[in-house]
Amino acid sequence: MFPKIQFICTMCSFLLISNSVFSQNSSNATVDLLTTTGSDRKFSEGAVDSASLDLILKSGINAPSARNHQPWRFSVLKETQKTKKLISNIKKGNVVIIVSGTEDASKECSVDFDCALATENMFIAAKSLGLAARIYTGPIPKVKKDKDSYKVPDGYRPVAILRIGNSADDTDATTSASTKKSFSEIVN
Ligand SMILES: Cc1cc2nc3c(=O)[nH]c(=O)nc-3n(C[C@H](O)[C@H](O)[C@H](O)COP(=O)(O)O)c2cc1C
Repeated sequence: MFPKIQFICTMCSFLLISNSVFSQNSSNATVDLLTTTGSDRKFSEGAVDSASLDLILKSGINAPSARNHQPWRFSVLKETQKTKKLISNIKKGNVVIIVSGTEDASKECSVDFDCALATENMFIAAKSLGLAARIYTGPIPKVKKDKDSYKVPDGYRPVAILRIGNSADDTDATTSASTKKSFSEIVN
């Protein structure tokens, strides 16, 4: 009888832990942000202050990369007319950062992976600073066709786009978050 009860208790605890993993408060601001927040859907008008933008870019520069190649370049675009061609609902004041990777990579380089890490570092920095952020790859073909006008340097190809701005979402990050697969589906 006892082992049966113990088994049921263990299963209940597992289910409680796995179900609450996305909502528990860890008392750690970074972990709380990572386990609750998502990509913003609605942005409002309003400038991104230059001190925040500097911190976001520094967070990207500080990202890890294979063999520390740092194979990326960041193109910062603030002009709405140009960025509207990439993201139709862009708002005045939104900043678009195009992360590009070198075309001249050695075998040990993992350019796309490194660029993704830099993009994610900047995404997390922006969210931590209370800004709205979203990553895009859909508009990359448009950037490829017009690299000069999007300030992509010669010898680089665009990999990802990070949009930063102010949030217009009246719902909080937790309730508006996209649904995620459960703990047990992902973790073996
Ligand atoms: C590599 C990558 C490419 C993405 N491309 C687009 C895109 O082109 N357009 C878009 O609206 N969202 C894009 N997103 C945002 C995803 O749709 C979003 O992250 C996903 O639905 C999960 O939602 P969440 O970030 O709120 O958890 C992209 C995200 C990633 C990581």
